[in-house]
Amino acid sequence: MLTSCTTETRQASPSAHDPAELSAGLLAREASISPKFLYDALGSRLFEAICELPEYYPTRTEAAIFERHGADIARAAGAGVTLIDLGAGNCAKAAALFPLLRPRQYVAVDISTEFVSDALDRLRLRHPGLDMQACGLDFSQRFDLPPGVRDERRLFFYPGSSIGNFSPDEAVAFLRRLRGQCGDDGGLLIGIDLDKDKAVLDAAYDDELGVTAAFNRNVLRHANRLAGADFDIRRWRHHGFFNPDEGRVEMHLEAERDQIVRWRGGAREFVRGERIHTENSYKYRPADAIDLLERGGFEAARIWTDLRRWFAVIHAQAMH
Ligand code: AVI
Repeated sequence: MLTSCTTETRQASPSAHDPAELSAGLLAREASISPKFLYDALGSRLFEAICELPEYYPTRTEAAIFERHGADIARAAGAGVTLIDLGAGNCAKAAALFPLLRPRQYVAVDISTEFVSDALDRLRLRHPGLDMQACGLDFSQRFDLPPGVRDERRLFFYPGSSIGNFSPDEAVAFLRRLRGQCGDDGGLLIGIDLDKDKAVLDAAYDDELGVTAAFNRNVLRHANRLAGADFDIRRWRHHGFFNPDEGRVEMHLEAERDQIVRWRGGAREFVRGERIHTENSYKYRPADAIDLLERGGFEAARIWTDLRRWFAVIHAQAMH
């Protein structure tokens, strides 16, 4: 579902954050809101703040892997690629790799068009010679890259373990879509969060300062704006915890008292203690991560981890 992709700045199509999808989730037997609704402009900034938290290890652990093994990773990926950054946000992770990867073109894709376009405008000042495009699209759905994106040596860059926000089956379907878009000379450079101690995971998704709680509760403000809902944010409590049976961290919002919430196209009564499921974040063992990539159409995986084996960066090639 392509929305806007251009060398200039444009707005994302409204379909990226679809009020009908939001409404359907809220009306489901077990209420849910897709994690993509976490990322309005404020949500994107709160996520940036999460990445600074001492408890939230993935960002800095991944950065340390790139710092330590960057040259090796770049050799595996090859220079002169078309670097397609999925969920680019502030573009900082990809930009840090420019000196090593020396891409021919950089394509920053994000559901939050305004945020990524602003970031790209700043990046253009620092790299005036590099061909860059900003794309506002929901790449979690079927999507097409626009004609301006080079089709040679496409390297999809999907850091931060965002693959964990899909279920394993959704992740495989998503990877197959990437495989379909990257041609026989393409590849994937991905960050995947690894299985670890529950206490570490619980703290990472329920931090002391309450930044993750604000990030989660902000989804209700987004719903109020997007669908004219009347959520009273103060009546909802954040939960973030590792569920070992499912191999995933879960985020929920729990009603602190009985209430009726109305929005354009629906209404629902929530009883005290009822929850809205807002996010899953799957954690993988290294062998399972490689298996996932293979099921998604990528082979010849090379894996780099930190010393604690908390996080993995993997390069894999499109399967022929
Ligand atoms: C974007 N994604 C990989 C984050 C994660 O860890 O699943 C989102 C997040 N949710 C709570 N904290 C961070």
